[in-house]
Amino acid sequence: MANKPQHHSPPSPKPLWGSSSRLPGLFRPRLLIIVGCTFTLLVSACLLVLEFENQNYALRLQLFRPNHYFEKQCYTPLESATERLQHGSPPPVPPPPGGSGGEVKNGDEEEWRFVASRDANNYALNSEQCLAAFPKLFTEIDKSVTQRREANNPITFGEINSRKKLGQGMARAMIYQGELYIVEYGDMMYTATRAKSTLHSLHRALVANADREPLPSIEFHFSADDFVWDDLKLAGGPVWAYSKRDTSDIDLGDVDDSNIWLMPDFGYWAWPEVEIAPYRETRRRIAAVDSEYDDFQAKKKQLLWRGSLNTASELRSGLVEATKNKYWASVRVVDWGDSKSVADNVLPIEDHCRYMFLAHTEGRSFSGRGKYLLNCHSVFITHPLIWREAHHAALISSGPDANYVQVARDFSNLEAKVEYLLDNPQVAERIANNSVETFRDRYLTPAAEACYWRYLIRKYAEVSDFEPKLYDERTKKMRGQPYEQWVLSL
Ligand SMILES: *[C@@H]1O[C@H](CO)[C@@H](O)[C@H](O)[C@H]1NC(C)=O
Repeated sequence: MANKPQHHSPPSPKPLWGSSSRLPGLFRPRLLIIVGCTFTLLVSACLLVLEFENQNYALRLQLFRPNHYFEKQCYTPLESATERLQHGSPPPVPPPPGGSGGEVKNGDEEEWRFVASRDANNYALNSEQCLAAFPKLFTEIDKSVTQRREANNPITFGEINSRKKLGQGMARAMIYQGELYIVEYGDMMYTATRAKSTLHSLHRALVANADREPLPSIEFHFSADDFVWDDLKLAGGPVWAYSKRDTSDIDLGDVDDSNIWLMPDFGYWAWPEVEIAPYRETRRRIAAVDSEYDDFQAKKKQLLWRGSLNTASELRSGLVEATKNKYWASVRVVDWGDSKSVADNVLPIEDHCRYMFLAHTEGRSFSGRGKYLLNCHSVFITHPLIWREAHHAALISSGPDANYVQVARDFSNLEAKVEYLLDNPQVAERIANNSVETFRDRYLTPAAEACYWRYLIRKYAEVSDFEPKLYDERTKKMRGQPYEQWVLSL
């Protein structure tokens, strides 16, 4: 029979590469083909993924050497302002031995000091001068840096790029070799002047950069809204914003602000919606009004507040209630939608300074008005502030250095505190003096704002593990627009 098993037929010779007992199974022809195909398929799949993740890939690789991402080669990281505040300035670097023609510094050379009358409008202080002049200005930035470092969690391009849609008020920008580029510009229906102000301010700080000190290249998102909504915080990486809260002040169940990087607010440029002039001009007007009051005691002995109840209405209503029919208060509600209310109740910001006591409340988040009030030679009175701004670390509410007065969030002790100040005019004057020295003549100067921007750029870069690319690798097109071009399209 043809199908009879051939147990007894003589063994036919097997090919050498067949599965003789000595060769491993891998060399069987069929297996070889299968393994080959699988390998090819895997490689193609990998290539596809790589292509898809394109730029991210190289950056991810860097994560395998996590100890190196803080050591950028291209510039020297800046000293931490907070560390200097805690431990004092480092000893001056001794001149190199046998200095080659370099001038040896004179031992008793005068140390540079910030003098408001000379330096307040100088956008071009160098980084050493910035640290010396504004030791408390950079606290929130240092906190953000520490958080990233301690978690060994650098900002990656993938993190930035994971934000697929900009929320209202958001934009994406890049600083590349010291120049500003706008990569993506979101819906600015409610925030048009703010976003523009922010980019102009940032650009101003860049072009004023003293001695062309090297600035690292970075890429970031910012929000020109009062705060960043929870879903926008979750939908991508870090966001620069005008204000942020400590985690202890976040309501249960809300997303905290740990991924918010604090930036200066739009008011350092201008705030046209509430008729506030460009910042330096506003400061000039305030100085002019204050110069009419050589004697602080000649100011109106009242607590002033003008504002809308549309935002933070519960908080602000507390102030209105606590001051109703009080001889020591001039508090009026402004309805910005009603021209008569605006005409009757709005007071130019500089005229606030004619009053001895200025009440301040938060709004939808922080209130941009605070920094103007702190420019007056008056006593700033506010509830505990939850929404932080850069200068807040310099606020002192008690002791001989007190530079403002803090009252309960429901204003229940407001009357007692104001009456105390009215009875002790020297205490009030000392607080106003301290306020002027700390805020008007230091932390709220244009010089401080420019220092803040550059410190923010350097420190953000210190915990970023990537250098942004100016050109898209695939399309070879520039990513975004240079500021100079973008500004013409406005
Ligand atoms: C406040 O400052 C002015 C001007 O420097 C000074 O004359 C005055 O004595 C100061 N007042 C107090 C209470 O320190």
